[in-house]
Amino acid sequence: MELIDTMTAECVGKPPYRFRRMIPQDHIRQAVDKLAEQLRADYADKNPIFMGVLNGCFIFMADLIRAVNIPCEVDFIKLSSYRDAMTSGDVNLVKDIDANLVGRHVILVEDIVDTGKSLGFLRRHLMSKKPASLVMVSMFVKERDKLDDAVAEYVGTIIPDEFVVGYGLDYAQQWRQLPDLYVLDKDQ
Ligand code: IMP
Ligand code: MG
Repeated sequence: MELIDTMTAECVGKPPYRFRRMIPQDHIRQAVDKLAEQLRADYADKNPIFMGVLNGCFIFMADLIRAVNIPCEVDFIKLSSYRDAMTSGDVNLVKDIDANLVGRHVILVEDIVDTGKSLGFLRRHLMSKKPASLVMVSMFVKERDKLDDAVAEYVGTIIPDEFVVGYGLDYAQQWRQLPDLYVLDKDQ
């Protein structure tokens, strides 16, 4: 376990916090570049809308669109989550999209897929806006015996089923700034 001594967030335990690095930033970078290559090949002439799912997407989204580097638009959608901790809750819309999706090619950008509940909800919601096409990109997908029908079309990396932080992902709104992906040891 790596020790990170940070004077914040009493809600996530007493510092120093213990982390185990799961994926280093250079591996994340390689996965982003690979996704970008595929998306560039598939969308170079389609002027797609990259639709980020706030808040977790913001770092991945920024890296991804610069790596893809094709004509595109950017918009965001926000879901409420009652999952401060490790529990998955009901999904509700907090901020809907601003762009008109009719006839557009939409690329949904998500940080991580766990149960697939959020992507399932978003797929139904966005399809009701009549896009020409809709695909989902997730940087991380947790390995599970069975996901529902909402698995992403483009996946950065499949990871073990553990609760992770960093690269935009939080625990109780903390740790999004960490450049690598970590398992946070909360039993301390
Ligand atoms: P799902 O609906 O169960 O697939 O959960 C997806 C959402 O839950 C993601 O967009 C994340 O915001 C959050 N989430 C799921 N697993 C983790 C995790 O390990 N760390 C941080 N956030 C997570
Ligand atoms: Mg998310």
